[in-house]
Amino acid sequence: MGKYKGEGSLAVRPKTTEEVSRILKHCNERNLAVVPQGGNTGLVGGSVPVFDEIIVSMARLNEVKSIDPLSGVLVCQAGCILQHLDDRVAKEGLMMPLDLGAKGSCHIGGNISTNAGGIRYLRYGSLHGSVLGLEVVLANGEVLDVLQSLRKDTTGYDLKQLFIGAEGTLGLVTAAAIHCPPRPKAKNATFLACATFSKVLETFRKAKADLGEILSAFEFLDKESLDLAVGTYEDVKSPLPGSPERFYVLLETSGSNEDHDNEKLHAFLEAALESGAISDGAVAQDGTQLKAFWRIREGVPEALNTHKAMYKYDLSIPQSTMYGLVEDMRARVGDRAYTVGYGHLGDGNLHLNVVADAYSEELTSLIEPFVYERTAELGGSVSAEHGLGQMKADCIGYTKGDSAVSLMRLVKKTLDPKGILNPYKVLPLPGEVTPPQ
Ligand code: FAD
Ligand code: MLT
Ligand code: ZN
Repeated sequence: MGKYKGEGSLAVRPKTTEEVSRILKHCNERNLAVVPQGGNTGLVGGSVPVFDEIIVSMARLNEVKSIDPLSGVLVCQAGCILQHLDDRVAKEGLMMPLDLGAKGSCHIGGNISTNAGGIRYLRYGSLHGSVLGLEVVLANGEVLDVLQSLRKDTTGYDLKQLFIGAEGTLGLVTAAAIHCPPRPKAKNATFLACATFSKVLETFRKAKADLGEILSAFEFLDKESLDLAVGTYEDVKSPLPGSPERFYVLLETSGSNEDHDNEKLHAFLEAALESGAISDGAVAQDGTQLKAFWRIREGVPEALNTHKAMYKYDLSIPQSTMYGLVEDMRARVGDRAYTVGYGHLGDGNLHLNVVADAYSEELTSLIEPFVYERTAELGGSVSAEHGLGQMKADCIGYTKGDSAVSLMRLVKKTLDPKGILNPYKVLPLPGEVTPPQ
């Protein structure tokens, strides 16, 4: 994003777990701080050094170890690129359980370390469920081997969970075992227009009820998001040109029987039109159109990124109150900036973004801490899926209470007593306690 700039002058590129182990042992003995770096697509500055931390690039740990087509378990090194893994498991009739716009660059190790969500979370759930095992190098160089491939295992504490979403502050993930679901044989996408946000919610409820197990994504974007993507890129075209509506939904189904899915989808669309939940819609006619629909959704964050100043928020908010925050923000910043709301509505995950020609103190003070305070009042989370990184380390208290933060500090102290692993990220510095505490 061009927002975070470190002063690191050394990057190491290990190829094996053994090399990662030797690097950390050495750094720990000499009190040298490190920052793990995956595909560097993170949006909260987690993979960027704050000062002169040594960058440990995981890019060369990129081997697929095994794929079991029967159990669907993939075992691979952490530096494998998500898209490459998806292409690889496709040959066995499987798919990766997560998908996101950055798939062409992000690493599975980065995904695990940020507990990435993405567009199919609604259907396939969290990495806390899909990751079956991990190999992690601890701060002192010791290799923690919990790389099981078992769906079920209740022998004591589930240690791997600690590293999922730890953003490289507790250890370096070097390999993972991941449960991959069967690749769907049939896929459909529809692009829908809704007059109000409450109609979007009505459509979501109906989609869950009528489409059931085949519903695989329910993404929403407001008109401002759509206009921005269409206005920025020639290859992004609305399938509903000239639609006057304020809200749009990209709904995807994935199943095993095309006729069955089509029948269900068309019955749902007819009923949704009849009830007035949706006012218009287009169904992708083939794979190319399906991709074109997804290009609209993926074009939104890309188009935002072309602005010189981008205030980016990734919030979990109860769905019923979600869009009110976008409206309040738009009213606060007025014509000083352009405000958009989009996101993974099916998971209660709002992406609220404010873009402008330049960062200014006036704009910043209109946005923060308001956005965090309102999220906390609504019972939400200040980070749904991007993590805290360096952007939001001092905001943890808006979502987690004292006792949780204290226990996190204790875990950090236990696993990384010298604090060499990705310092200044995730947890606020002692003394910099977050506002609500
Ligand atoms: P990096 O950015 O390199 O690192 C992220 C964090 O993980 C850092 O703290 C880093 O130190 C740590 N880390 C990286 N690798 C390791 C490792 N092997 N061991 C320990 N720590 C490690 N995110 C979502 O959740 N959902 C989305 O839908 C989504 N869409 C995106 C779309 C675009 C266009 C972009 C640019 C980003 C998007 N993201 C999304 C954010 C980002 O892609 C994810 O956070 C991704 O999981 C980061 O992976 P990475 O390999 O790039 O990690
Ligand atoms: C998305 O859902 O598009 C991603 O999380 C990225 C973003 O919002 O910028
Ligand atoms: Zn997202």
